[in-house]
Amino acid sequence: MGGGQVERRCLSDISSPRPHRSAHPVAAKIVAVSFRLDRSAPLCRPPSNEWRPAVAFSLPHREYGPADPDELSAVARLARLGFGLSRDLFDRYAALFGIDSIRVLRVPRSTGTTLAACAACWTMNQWFGGRPVPVLAIAMVAVDPALRGAGHGSALMRALLTEGRDSGAALALLCPATLPFYGRLGFGRGGVTCRWSAPPTAFTHSGAGASDLWPADPLDAAPLAMLRQPLLLEQNGLPERTEALWTLALCPDGEPADLYRNEDGYIAMTPPQDRRLAVADLCLPSARSLKPAMALLAGFRAQVDRVTWRGGPDDPLVLLAGDGVRLECREEWLIRPLDIGKALEARGYPADLADKVTFELEDDLIPDNCAPFNLDVAGSNGRVSRTAQALAPPVQIDTVAFASLFTGYASARILWHAGLLHGEEKMIDRLDRVFCGATCWMPDRF
Ligand SMILES: CC(C)(COP(=O)(O)OP(=O)(O)OC[C@H]1O[C@@H](n2cnc3c(N)ncnc32)[C@H](O)[C@@H]1OP(=O)(O)O)[C@@H](O)C(=O)NCCC(=O)NCCS
Repeated sequence: MGGGQVERRCLSDISSPRPHRSAHPVAAKIVAVSFRLDRSAPLCRPPSNEWRPAVAFSLPHREYGPADPDELSAVARLARLGFGLSRDLFDRYAALFGIDSIRVLRVPRSTGTTLAACAACWTMNQWFGGRPVPVLAIAMVAVDPALRGAGHGSALMRALLTEGRDSGAALALLCPATLPFYGRLGFGRGGVTCRWSAPPTAFTHSGAGASDLWPADPLDAAPLAMLRQPLLLEQNGLPERTEALWTLALCPDGEPADLYRNEDGYIAMTPPQDRRLAVADLCLPSARSLKPAMALLAGFRAQVDRVTWRGGPDDPLVLLAGDGVRLECREEWLIRPLDIGKALEARGYPADLADKVTFELEDDLIPDNCAPFNLDVAGSNGRVSRTAQALAPPVQIDTVAFASLFTGYASARILWHAGLLHGEEKMIDRLDRVFCGATCWMPDRF
């Protein structure tokens, strides 16, 4: 989970971004976060969220459940073989996310049982249409190389998805290394993470001085979370960060980044290295924060050749920069619906829309998702009713295409043209009105 090794293994750029569609944020209550990051977290600290399912169940010839503390070395070995994760980094992630977040799959051997596979998971909210949707985030999925190709990876994932649904998550979310494996399990493309770079000279002439920013404490994430809240409302796909995700964002190498902020936004950087300046995290939602941040970056022009940062396809720094901006990397993340009704009722919709669509979903893993249901949208709320008798010929779709429709990664019309969604054209138009919004992205990788 997290770290450069995982990122380098992620999907390459396999489709082009959609044109921007206007956002329709709706009002939503935001729960204020209050925490102080502790980067020297002990190894056995519990996870930062409230969710503690102590599930353990037997699958045919396999046993699934939370990792025992004495299995940590075996899990670290799988993480090393799967992602090249060093023991130090593994220990850091285990301390951050808590060993309660680790799941394992054990299989019988003549000498007892052996650890065949592992993963990490936690719940958090991810924001769609200006509202929080509960998701199960999954990371560090790895199978012992000697046992790959025997169905253990799929068995572990199916058990995780069942556990996630039983625990109240509406969606599962992960950053993949391979699409076919997750596609077979019903995951579809949800959104992107763009890594941009530019020479610092691209940020001269911002018309503001960097003195409008002041240094701040990168170990105190609570004020930063408050600055980030308007973005959760306006954008699509941003996670409401847990303490562990805040720590990864602000202490990416284990050391706190250098943080500057003003009343509107913030920017955190790691020290220049190899003539590159890496922005660890940023939230610059207005000209009042963007312009001084640009002046700050331009001030590094004698020290570095390029500045790198993560953002969405419609990144405002890109919009304002001069010559030399490059899209270094475009990575995708995947979504899998766990509870369709819950997901559709949790998210927000365009405030000025009243419309109705009827779905029939194909889901091999979760039969409860399959009944035809109507979605009524009014006043930015969605209400789902399940009925044997559909109001209109339903749109037929599988979970893979539903993921892209739900997040706005792909429009209904594009899915329809690609043969991934079937229905009458008037229903396609309705779907496009219902699921329109800002382009879906998130800066976090895990
Ligand atoms: C990816 C991984 C977890 C799959 O585990 P596994 O136990 O071998 O998978 P399964 O046996 O359940 O395979 C299920 C299907 O996915 C396919 N599959 C497995 N790994 C694949 C890969 N890397 N690329 C494409 N397809 C893959 C299998 O061919 C199989 O298809 P089939 O049912 O048509 O035969 C395992 O290869 C691994 O640990 N890889 C290294 C770490 C990694 O990349 N993890 C994913 C991080 S996001």
